[in-house]
Amino acid sequence: MTKILVINGSYRENGITDQVVETMAEALQRAGEEVEIILLRKYPIEFCLNCRECTQQPGEAPGKCVQHDGMQELIDKIEKADAYIFASPTNFGSVTAIFKRFMERLVVYGYWPWGTNAPKDRKANVPKKKAVLVSSCAAPGIMGRLFFSTTKELKMTAKTIGADTVGTLFTGLIAQEEHSKLPDDIKKKAEKLAKKLL
Ligand SMILES: Cc1cc2nc3c(=O)[nH]c(=O)nc-3n(C[C@H](O)[C@H](O)[C@H](O)COP(=O)(O)O)c2cc1C
Repeated sequence: MTKILVINGSYRENGITDQVVETMAEALQRAGEEVEIILLRKYPIEFCLNCRECTQQPGEAPGKCVQHDGMQELIDKIEKADAYIFASPTNFGSVTAIFKRFMERLVVYGYWPWGTNAPKDRKANVPKKKAVLVSSCAAPGIMGRLFFSTTKELKMTAKTIGADTVGTLFTGLIAQEEHSKLPDDIKKKAEKLAKKLL
């Protein structure tokens, strides 16, 4: 059984992102896999302090943060999972602020002693897990994929925690009504994409 962790950075209950990840989760559960969905909007994590304490600790394991909030529990879930779905709507051309806050806390995955220019990726030499990325935007999807930085940021998130991106679902011209229902063709794409994690 594959353990799949979903990190959802949407603000909106039952919005497009919620519907896509739930469609994926149901498809995976029907296939007998274990899925846990983390809604960042309900998850108690603080902003990174940029203190870099976590980055001074050597080794392959993520460094320990000085803050005692929900992030350590989330890191433990990330470490235990076999595959991931990272999802965020596109707001002002990038991931949402809550997704970015989560991303910055992933600095624990870098070994960056004082006096060195850039962090070394702790997961650089470990076998890669798989990740699927999900985003949406009001503009046509092609514009979103070409001009917004959402996909790049979601990919960076996957790479940081030691996963290769195996597929992306970026939906455009979406959420044009207050309570948009996910179109059937997008549902089918989402189900197919989720299976790539197995
Ligand atoms: C604050 C805000 C900023 C947004 N910025 C963009 C944007 O830069 N480009 C775009 O095409 N759509 C933008 N949108 C539209 C959202 O990407 C779109 O509604 C998305 O599907 C919402 O996902 P959700 O249903 O999970 O909330 C923005 C929406 C909001 C509320």
